[in-house]
Amino acid sequence: MSIERQRGAARNLHHGSKLAIAILAAGKGTRLKSRRAKVLHEIGGKPLLAHVIEAASKVAAPADIYAVVGHQAGRVRSAVVDSGVHFVEQAEQRGTGHAVEAAKDAIAGYENVMVLSGDAPLVKPETIEKLWQFHQSHDAAMTLTSAEPDEPTGYGRIVRRTPDSPEVTAIVEQKMLAPWQQAIREVNMGMYAFKTAPLLKHLGELSPDNPHAELYLTDMARMLGAAGERVVAFKTEDASELLGANTIAEMVALDASLRSATARRLMDSGVTIFRPETCVIDSDVEVGPDTVIEPFVQLLGHTRVGPDCRIRSYTVIENCTLGNGVIVRQSCVLADSTIADGADIGPFARLRPGCEIGEKVHIGNFVEVKKSKLGMGVKAGHLAYLGDAEIGAAANIGAGVITCNYDGVKKHLTRIGAGAFVGSDSTLVAPLTVGDGTYIGAGSCITKDVPANALAVGRARQMTKEGWAAARRAKHPQKE
Ligand code: UD1
Ligand code: CA
Repeated sequence: MSIERQRGAARNLHHGSKLAIAILAAGKGTRLKSRRAKVLHEIGGKPLLAHVIEAASKVAAPADIYAVVGHQAGRVRSAVVDSGVHFVEQAEQRGTGHAVEAAKDAIAGYENVMVLSGDAPLVKPETIEKLWQFHQSHDAAMTLTSAEPDEPTGYGRIVRRTPDSPEVTAIVEQKMLAPWQQAIREVNMGMYAFKTAPLLKHLGELSPDNPHAELYLTDMARMLGAAGERVVAFKTEDASELLGANTIAEMVALDASLRSATARRLMDSGVTIFRPETCVIDSDVEVGPDTVIEPFVQLLGHTRVGPDCRIRSYTVIENCTLGNGVIVRQSCVLADSTIADGADIGPFARLRPGCEIGEKVHIGNFVEVKKSKLGMGVKAGHLAYLGDAEIGAAANIGAGVITCNYDGVKKHLTRIGAGAFVGSDSTLVAPLTVGDGTYIGAGSCITKDVPANALAVGRARQMTKEGWAAARRAKHPQKE
């Protein structure tokens, strides 16, 4: 990058947009009893933090997004590094207020900063957007987001100046509730917008004067109010966005609710999913209309399935792209590959990463394909291993054919020409080229290139001894 562009980028980062979004993700999540940081736990096939980053990225105003990481920082960073967020380190986790303090230098150049919780993955982009609009229209120093869940226990409660006032005098954490505050049903969602200047001016006044001896970001409501700043609450209708998970069981419940929403989204767009509660479909999966998904199917990662396909039971497809009218029969395992229109895969087929399966290809029972390109109409019906192969259109691969692609040191390519016929149980020792339209006799071990339109047979000649068996039986009658 040129010096000019580097300067441009730096300028862009700190002054081009007036909004920073800080996502707090440094905590351990002690209540989960897991050795893995809470924000790394996955629902809908993605870490909690990735869901929050995705929602934050959809805010209309240009914003730079920071993730505050601490516990297992390295793993957390690498789990979301592709999202393009910036990272800030909070070496010791001393509370949500302390986490924002850790981001002080990063956010200082922005007029406003929104703070989100990395462990609240159901937050909707629209809600973040509404919070931002509310904050601006009330010209507040701090705007917090509230909701009224059926069960407020455990959340910070909102104390409004008067019941109908947008102004808030304090957020009180569960353990600090005065008896009269126990009845408050309005809770803090852990999502805020601040004017950066008053936030940073008063952040240092936070004290760990609470049962956990932490610096609570929630105390900023009282402190900013006491300093004469305006603190308001934006109340959302949908309290379900608040949901997080403090136990593995709650995490699994979140996963289920997200997946049923994904299945619902697909069914609303014309996909039939039989017994959707048995299927595992990640949030980013797309499926075309009139495709039928049978029970116990898993569609994972960035899988794209075209229209008019049928995915039969017990198949697992991860990061694959399927064209139109593809059928994947029972119990196939397909990963990181593309499959063109009208292909017919399985049952019990395996595609390992890097396969390009052409139109109308048939791959049958117990065929394993790895990093291979199969042209239109290739057939490999039974029990084959095709690795590092390029197979021309309409070639026929017999049962039990094996490409010997590995010599113990390197992988080698096998090229099989269009319309070639490779007889059953042949071994093709790579590097090897078999010409177009050529026949390989069954049971051959082929080690040398074969030109087009030839016949190659690489096996011992058959020997037949007439009457041999009868003679043997006469010699050893007891064997009968
Ligand atoms: C917080 C709020 C509570 C609110 C609730 C909503 C405080 C004190 N309380 O409680 O009012 O109702 O969210 O879910 O803020 N984190 C750090 N560094 C730390 C501590 C926490 O980055 O030192 C991160 C955590 O990883 C988490 C987020 O901040 O993603 C919230 O922290 P958590 O401990 O879960 O706060 P809650 O108890 O949920
Ligand atoms: Ca939490």
